[in-house]
Amino acid sequence: MVPVTFDKVRKQFGALVALPGLDLAIAAGEFVSLLGPSGCGKTTTLRMLAGLEQPTSGRILIGERMVNDLAPSERDIAMVFQSYALYPHMSVAQNIAYPLRKRGVPKAERPAKVKAVADLLQLGPLLERRPRQLSGGQQQRVALGRALVREPKVFLLDEPLSNLDAKLRAHMRAELIELHRRLGKTMVYVTHDQLEAMTMSTRIAVMQGGTLQQFATPAEIYHRPANAFVAGFIGTPAMTLADGEIAAGERGPLLKLGELRLDLPPGHLAVQPEGILKVTVGVRPEDVLLGRGEGRASIRVVEPTGHESIVLAKAGDVAFTIRVPGDAGLCPGDSVPFDLRRDHLHIFDRESGRRLNADRNFAAIQPMSRDGYDNPSSCGGIVTRHALSNGGAG
Ligand SMILES: Nc1ncnc2c1ncn2[C@@H]1O[C@H](COP(=O)(O)OP(=O)(O)O)[C@@H](O)[C@H]1O
Ligand SMILES: [Mg+2]
Repeated sequence: MVPVTFDKVRKQFGALVALPGLDLAIAAGEFVSLLGPSGCGKTTTLRMLAGLEQPTSGRILIGERMVNDLAPSERDIAMVFQSYALYPHMSVAQNIAYPLRKRGVPKAERPAKVKAVADLLQLGPLLERRPRQLSGGQQQRVALGRALVREPKVFLLDEPLSNLDAKLRAHMRAELIELHRRLGKTMVYVTHDQLEAMTMSTRIAVMQGGTLQQFATPAEIYHRPANAFVAGFIGTPAMTLADGEIAAGERGPLLKLGELRLDLPPGHLAVQPEGILKVTVGVRPEDVLLGRGEGRASIRVVEPTGHESIVLAKAGDVAFTIRVPGDAGLCPGDSVPFDLRRDHLHIFDRESGRRLNADRNFAAIQPMSRDGYDNPSSCGGIVTRHALSNGGAG
């Protein structure tokens, strides 16, 4: 297991600055996702780590070693791409063995290595087949096998699941988690799909416009987004983001949000508002309460999904996305009492987008390995707020 470090890594393509200066320290054995919208620089970051692209400036380290001047083949990494590009005329076994052949691993040693990888990925019964005789998921497993067979120190994956259908993607997510657990290797995974990043990663690096926005566990990113961009990007359905104003009230900060006037809980903010503070307020769909409270919401759209419904409702000028259990018995046009979980409101500076919450009720969660990730008490997945706030009050 080795760490991977980006130290002020800048990348320009001519006049275009793809990455102005990336600092990212990935710990040994982590599964880190680079997550962000198309064009934010994820693939460029991964290709520089692989040695397929040269940084304009800055240093990249694999373990203690600076690799800027090393060829891809000298970096002890393996990369899996979105298009798995198997050799159609070769069998599965030959495809997996190909990197060994290319590197001059003696012929006698190859079958054992191929078998070990085939066992790991449950490809044993398929070894004699040709790629076209495999399903998309099986082909992707062969591509993984071809990367694994060299036993690289670091494993790089660029949107490896995006060609698969939704059901198979879910299955492969579970397989990749299991694979990471068994191998314990450092993995860097590029995706624009927040669900993939949230479910698999020990930590997520959220990027936008070539700039790292937040690098933290999935739970932390969900519950404490560092800025309004991360807040809006993570979560399905997305949280409501609306303009608000905060002023000093009699009982502490008073939030004006559309027609609502809400006293914020004591200590909710890391700042003391002086005069009027212009903010962006973030409200997760599960933090809107229907059927109680002094506000009124007018139901616009109800989308039942079975175990829950997603409701679009307007309170004054603000359109909220709301998650309710079951079918909720709501109809468009209904006017219902409505409240917000005040202690769960995300407050961002409207100009800079920076988070203003004090977050004193949340524990800092920093699992670095799959063990940490799997330990329920410090779980890196999406844990409930209840578990989170019980984890570290004070
Ligand atoms: N070889 C290249 N030449 C010129 N511009 C490039 C090249 N590769 C990437 N870019 C640009 O760099 C930015 C980041 O691209 P990329 O890393 O592929 O983003 P992502 O993988 O997040 O979608 C984009 O603006 C893209 O157009
Ligand atoms: Mg890409």
